[in-house]
Amino acid sequence: MTISAEERHLIQETLRIAEQGTTHMVPEVMYNPTTKYTDPNQYEAEVNTLFRNFPIIIGHVSDLAEAGDFMTHDHFGVPIVVTRAHDGVLRAFLNVCRHRGAKLTKEPCGKARTLSCPYHAWTYGLDGKLRGIPQQFGFDGVDKSKLGLVELPVFERFGLIWVVPSVQDHDIDIDAWLKPMAEQLTSLDMGNQHVFKKWTLEKKMSWRFLLEAFQESYHFCYAHRDTACAGYLDNQSVQLNFDPHVRHAVPLPKVLDLREQDPETWDYRSNFMTQNYIFPANFVQVMTDHIYVHTIIPTGIDTCVFQCMMLISEAPQTEKAERYFQKNYDLIRVVFEEDFEIGESIQAGLNAGANANFVFGTYECGLHFGQKAIDAALAGKIKV
Ligand code: FES
Ligand SMILES: [Fe+2]
Repeated sequence: MTISAEERHLIQETLRIAEQGTTHMVPEVMYNPTTKYTDPNQYEAEVNTLFRNFPIIIGHVSDLAEAGDFMTHDHFGVPIVVTRAHDGVLRAFLNVCRHRGAKLTKEPCGKARTLSCPYHAWTYGLDGKLRGIPQQFGFDGVDKSKLGLVELPVFERFGLIWVVPSVQDHDIDIDAWLKPMAEQLTSLDMGNQHVFKKWTLEKKMSWRFLLEAFQESYHFCYAHRDTACAGYLDNQSVQLNFDPHVRHAVPLPKVLDLREQDPETWDYRSNFMTQNYIFPANFVQVMTDHIYVHTIIPTGIDTCVFQCMMLISEAPQTEKAERYFQKNYDLIRVVFEEDFEIGESIQAGLNAGANANFVFGTYECGLHFGQKAIDAALAGKIKV
């Protein structure tokens, strides 16, 4: 069994705070103005910065495994098509025709040799090149090589597909960006895992309330009293701030048994649920034997979309295995729904004016880290 220095530190820190009867904390309570959730200018800045210039997970590599595969994505308010061209290269484009702007394909995914516009049938290769203009004599002098699809940055890392939803004027160093999380994400081998479930939900709340549901474990034994509470040590999580990414380790009660065990035999994964927050809106939530990858995308100041996939090490080989993972899936849907209900209730009460600020407790560390990182990114201090 191998354990990284970081995992060993997380275990030691968990045992230390349990021993001292305390929990992991930042020095001071933070008062977060509710205008951060209600101000249309704030919202616009968040969309235009966080959801245009940072990599967001939109799929698993199995979604685009073969040459000719494509998928579309519309939730950013920017129509995107991602393709695996016949040269094997993954590319992302604005799903917008260069003639007069029609959407090239409405299909969520599929297989194609070319993308042909429904309006006047201009045809593009999956490499984005404009191949054909019907009745070309009317476009004499038009340089086809200048009218390829507009390309967006896209990456395959850790078995996931990451897109940056706007044209960038510089190269993005995705590896430098993800480096603080790379050791753990590599060890999960997500590219070779099986997508057991995949779902998308539209929610009536600011994307920020949904984000915050995954940034602290203080709420587990209240909001999830009959579901997740018993599975974890109450409010005993440890958060590592990689500014802006955060690793949030939530211990299972059995982690305390490690006190009696030789540290050389310690195992991290079987003793923790881990929320790996990858700025600004991606989570890789690692359970002991499966993984949820979720992304939160704003669709309005008070609406958002939650996209999730459940990864398991291989397609279930037996009915028992199928039932086991189905049961886990059913449970997480209930747990997430408990979070969604609360988030929507916050949104519904937001304009009542009860709170000029929300109060972030000292052990709600992820809320502090998250808000500070968003503020820094909006101020131009965090860039990919
Ligand atoms: S808008 Fe696409 S071919 Fe005319
Ligand atoms: Fe929750």
